[in-house]
Amino acid sequence: MTNVLAISGSVRAGSFNSMLIHAARELVPSGMIIEIYDGLREIPPYDGGLDTPTPPAPVADLRARIAAADALLISTPEYNYGVPGVLKNAIDWASTPPRDSVLRDKPVVLMGASPTPFGTVRAQLALRQTFLSTGSPVVAKPEVLVFNAHERFDADGRLTDEGTAELVSGLLAVLDADLRAPMPVAV
Ligand code: FNR
Repeated sequence: MTNVLAISGSVRAGSFNSMLIHAARELVPSGMIIEIYDGLREIPPYDGGLDTPTPPAPVADLRARIAAADALLISTPEYNYGVPGVLKNAIDWASTPPRDSVLRDKPVVLMGASPTPFGTVRAQLALRQTFLSTGSPVVAKPEVLVFNAHERFDADGRLTDEGTAELVSGLLAVLDADLRAPMPVAV
């Protein structure tokens, strides 16, 4: 089995990005499990003074869960053309110590949902840059840019749009294939 840890970059009740992650759980290839991380709200603001071998407990938990996962699945909103602070903050905590972080060589897949016509493209590009810094290989395609997100879920938060479901399945299939092949190692 491959175990993928999913993080929604939104802590909002009724978040489209959290809905997208719930949908992804139903769209996994056989042999893959998606586990949902929902501790983003507990992660304190990054503080280098607290970034010691015994960091705050929520940070230790986040790092342990990333370390135990075969890959990360992130679904991000876009805030002001960028990555929401809560998500970037968690990534920053997970990124240290830089040469030996749990993000190093950790495969990542990205998705994002927004009610606007741009579908988080700018936030996802910013995340790709961040994961270049952390040495985490990001699956290139398909890009899952869920624009007009409010039209793609029903009142119970279930994904109703077939095209989006196909994109998410396709992304997870590429990740599955990548996990079975040797990954490039960051130097
Ligand atoms: C937004 N939103 C937004 N959307 C977008 O496509 N590009 C953007 O730059 C922004 N900027 C932005 C800033 C702030 C502070 C907020 C609160 C919102 C709208 C955003 O896409 C929308 O609220 C989504 O529904 C957020 O994702 P969740 O919470 O539904 O997952």
